[in-house]
Amino acid sequence: MTYFDQVSEAAAFLHSRIGSLTPKIGPKIGIVLGSGLGAVADAVSNPVFIPYAEIPHFPQSTVVGHSGRIVAGHLAGTPVVVMQGRVHFYEGYSPVQVTFPMRVLGALGLQAVILTNAAGGIQQGYHIGQLIALADHINFMGFNPLNGPNEPRFGFHPNSGLRFFDMTEAYSARLRALARQAASEEGFPLEEGVYLAVPGPSFETPAEIRAFRTLGATLVGMSTVPETIVARHMGLEVLGISCVTNLASGLSATPLSHEEVFEAGRQVEHRLARLFERLVPRIAALLNFEPALETQP
Ligand code: HPA
Repeated sequence: MTYFDQVSEAAAFLHSRIGSLTPKIGPKIGIVLGSGLGAVADAVSNPVFIPYAEIPHFPQSTVVGHSGRIVAGHLAGTPVVVMQGRVHFYEGYSPVQVTFPMRVLGALGLQAVILTNAAGGIQQGYHIGQLIALADHINFMGFNPLNGPNEPRFGFHPNSGLRFFDMTEAYSARLRALARQAASEEGFPLEEGVYLAVPGPSFETPAEIRAFRTLGATLVGMSTVPETIVARHMGLEVLGISCVTNLASGLSATPLSHEEVFEAGRQVEHRLARLFERLVPRIAALLNFEPALETQP
């Protein structure tokens, strides 16, 4: 069975489980929740829970704090498919396995995804618990998930599924603008940052963080970038939101730990949920009335 067929089978399975949620009026928006950021899923009304273990070919998360299920339902009246937990390259999954769930979201017919993550803050002035919208990324993972033959059938929207494609606006400027507006209404500023992805699982050394700052990164983390690349390959619009869970290596007096990362996520997840309740209906409205130029038929 080809990778594409596996993706199609997983998507068909999900469709059968959340069929009432996926007619034409169904979810256009997917949300991936990072470490400690699960509360957004609690805000989903009339949820249908689908553990990853039940979905054909779906990789299983091995990290504590990534519970590993799909939560489909409505967020402030807007249909959404939420992935609570993700798999990482450092768990031993290959790049195509890591991005399998994103392929399935694409195959479900979604138009936009919000990718959240826990990240170390590199920029001076960031504080723990701060939310940052990604303006761009630097792929330092040492691979690209699209390595290998191109599969044009992943072009679920016009002008996508291409061998070579543009990444100048990997993170949608118009979705970022909506997010900034929603955050300001919630009473906090949403700065923009540049996320550098490392393979992990060890945290960085102070010298690496100084190097990454020189390269233009303001955040560092171990996820998201492969998902963004694959989402863009399929023609989905991407909004990236990092939660600064710790100051990056060398910037804080205490050593880094996963518990610290997880705890900081816990403190901010409710703010994130309120932000999304405000934001997601607006993204849906934008997608309905103004499809992205590149995804217009
Ligand atoms: N480095 C890498 N990944 C991370 C960090 C960090 O400091 N914090 C949360 N994820």
